[in-house]
Amino acid sequence: MSDTAMNNGVFSLDNTKAPSESKVLPLFSLKGKTAIVSGAGAGIGLCVAQGFAEAGANVAIWYNSNKKALDRAAEIEQTYGVKCKAYQVNVTDPDLVKKVVNEIVQEFNGRLDVFVANSGIPWTQGPAINGEVSHYHKVVSTDLDGTFFCARAVGEIWRRQHQEGTDAFGNPLDNYTCGKFIATASMSGHIVNIPQLQAAYNAAKAGVIHLCRSLAVEWVQFARANSISPGYMATEISDFIPQETKNIWKSKIPMGREGEAFELKGAFLYLASDASSYTTGADILVDGGYALP
Ligand SMILES: NC(=O)c1ccc[n+]([C@@H]2O[C@H](COP(=O)([O-])OP(=O)(O)OC[C@H]3O[C@@H](n4cnc5c(N)ncnc54)[C@H](OP(=O)(O)O)[C@@H]3O)[C@@H](O)[C@H]2O)c1
Repeated sequence: MSDTAMNNGVFSLDNTKAPSESKVLPLFSLKGKTAIVSGAGAGIGLCVAQGFAEAGANVAIWYNSNKKALDRAAEIEQTYGVKCKAYQVNVTDPDLVKKVVNEIVQEFNGRLDVFVANSGIPWTQGPAINGEVSHYHKVVSTDLDGTFFCARAVGEIWRRQHQEGTDAFGNPLDNYTCGKFIATASMSGHIVNIPQLQAAYNAAKAGVIHLCRSLAVEWVQFARANSISPGYMATEISDFIPQETKNIWKSKIPMGREGEAFELKGAFLYLASDASSYTTGADILVDGGYALP
């Protein structure tokens, strides 16, 4: 471990500080902060970006193929009066991820507060034994490697912000506590979905959860790392699933329905803000109770 967070397996006392604010609504505010959300042209990522903008953050939204992200960014700027811009980034390219993260920090007030690693693709080829190895690589490289590459790029910035206490232009960082990394994992990192089989996706998402737990320890002085595990949410990612299968899903959810993407906004805002200042390495299941019975 770097710095003085831990020596010979013992953590330094008072490694971190509580925020100076203690009232609950101000703790949830992201006013003046900079957030990046990947996979944010539609679905969960777009809702998360909108939620952060509602809470006052300037937001960079990343897309891979969905150019509607450019229109969504313009709408967010207009609706919420914050800065919002769309960037095309393939998260499986670590050099590009690092380059764009640094460009955004320069363009967005010289600082980074929050990163949401939300990009992900499903496994669509059924039993693991029948699927192509190339499909396995694509799923794991997008869902797990991509999250790791994003974490590396932003962790470096948060370490510097902590060590120097300044933004990228050398000005003291105002209203800053630490970096907040949030990955969109999945309940599939906890349970095994049926009837559709998707071992590679499940393994990648379990990896994402434990990656965040591991980073939470590694980064304790300068950033918090947590994950959110949605259950079945009504987004385009499951468009390839037949309606009969979706009806089986519903019968396994205590709440008897899929979630709407906006129902995740609150959990993401909690982890992105100082409201969660003593929470790190946690995974929040938001699944209508699916994982309970
Ligand atoms: N919906 C659910 O039921 C559910 C449940 C649990 C977890 N999740 C997770 O939630 C996240 C968001 O999914 P969603 O439901 O909102 O579906 P979605 O709209 O299909 O979102 C997936 C996003 O990932 C992006 N993406 C795919 N490959 C990429 C790559 N190589 N580089 C950068 N971005 C890439 C896509 O960007 P483009 O569209 O621009 O190509 C898209 O914005 C995913 O990680 C998913 O696994 C979803």
